[in-house]
Amino acid sequence: MRVFNFAAGPSTLPLDVLKQAQSEFLDYQNSGMSISEMSHRSKTFMAVNDEANALLRELMSIPSDYSVLFVQGGASQQFASVPLNLMTSGKADYIVTGNFAGKAQQEAQKYGNAKIVASSKDKNFTYIPDVDSIEFSSDADYVHITSNNTIFGTRYTKFPKTKAPLVADMSSNILSEEVNVSDFGLIYAGAQKNIAPAGVTIVIVKNDLLGKQLDICPTMLNYQIQAKNDSLYNTPPCFPIYISMLVFRWLKNLGGVKAIQEINEYKAGLLYDFIDNSSLYKNFVNKKDRSIMNVPFVTGSEELDAKFIKEATANGLVSLKGHRLVGGMRASIYNAMPVEGVKALIEFMKKFELENK
Ligand SMILES: Cc1ncc(COP(=O)(O)O)c(C=O)c1O
Repeated sequence: MRVFNFAAGPSTLPLDVLKQAQSEFLDYQNSGMSISEMSHRSKTFMAVNDEANALLRELMSIPSDYSVLFVQGGASQQFASVPLNLMTSGKADYIVTGNFAGKAQQEAQKYGNAKIVASSKDKNFTYIPDVDSIEFSSDADYVHITSNNTIFGTRYTKFPKTKAPLVADMSSNILSEEVNVSDFGLIYAGAQKNIAPAGVTIVIVKNDLLGKQLDICPTMLNYQIQAKNDSLYNTPPCFPIYISMLVFRWLKNLGGVKAIQEINEYKAGLLYDFIDNSSLYKNFVNKKDRSIMNVPFVTGSEELDAKFIKEATANGLVSLKGHRLVGGMRASIYNAMPVEGVKALIEFMKKFELENK
């Protein structure tokens, strides 16, 4: 039996995509072998790589002067790749809005001065700093933000206007709402939330930022080399790229990012409205900064939280335990979480509230 899986990542994938992958797993397009068994230089795999790239460009309206890369190492590897490729004068600005934003800043600090220009640590990352009142350095090579904070459940609804290229970790909200790619110098995202199984990382980089890497930048992390080789400099993560292609097709058939954004806003709206009107559950995030992908909530009692998670699991609503830094519960409701999943969660929450008054 399939459950409703609210995991923060790796997370639920569209059922239609899983079924399609299952149906062609043993014999991909009459090749007599699985996509996981064939050369990454074969015509068949190259077609997958090209289609995944083209579909992502179409879905996000990526301008032609940007490169799209499918690399490995997860978003965490990008914490180093970004400074190694872009920190040419040894200075960058970081806005720290959570655990991963902090990790990105700490990694960059190894290569230069990664200045924290704003942080929401003072209130346990429950808000996004006002981007208009931040004083950015006049000589930063780039400004780094985390567009959605997976653990704390916040998101930027407005991006800072910066002189230096804006770099965004979009791991937990890429393709969930429309963004104007040309507002960014670089976007990166681990795929294991809104796109594919873990193993592939998306990098979207403006071409004029290529070729600026530090001398110590490892070849594999060099964006220019990856771009020149269509992400096939070495053996790529073939299976996750193939699933990415299927997920992009699924999203396109659904109506693209605009359509999924409406669904995501609807799903998140249902859940937040219910929480706000309940006397048991609370969400501590500043309302205007609430994530539409990750919804943390607590009952106020650790014992009751544990009971909630146990009973929810028994009811087929799984992976709702909050991150240890926040506690309580967290419902990750990525693109592939159906509306029925959110409705089932709310029904369970109602019942639990009545039973535990
Ligand atoms: C916003 C964000 N950045 C970075 C990461 C780290 O990603 P990875 O595990 O792919 O290195 C995560 C993982 O959950 C995340 O949510």
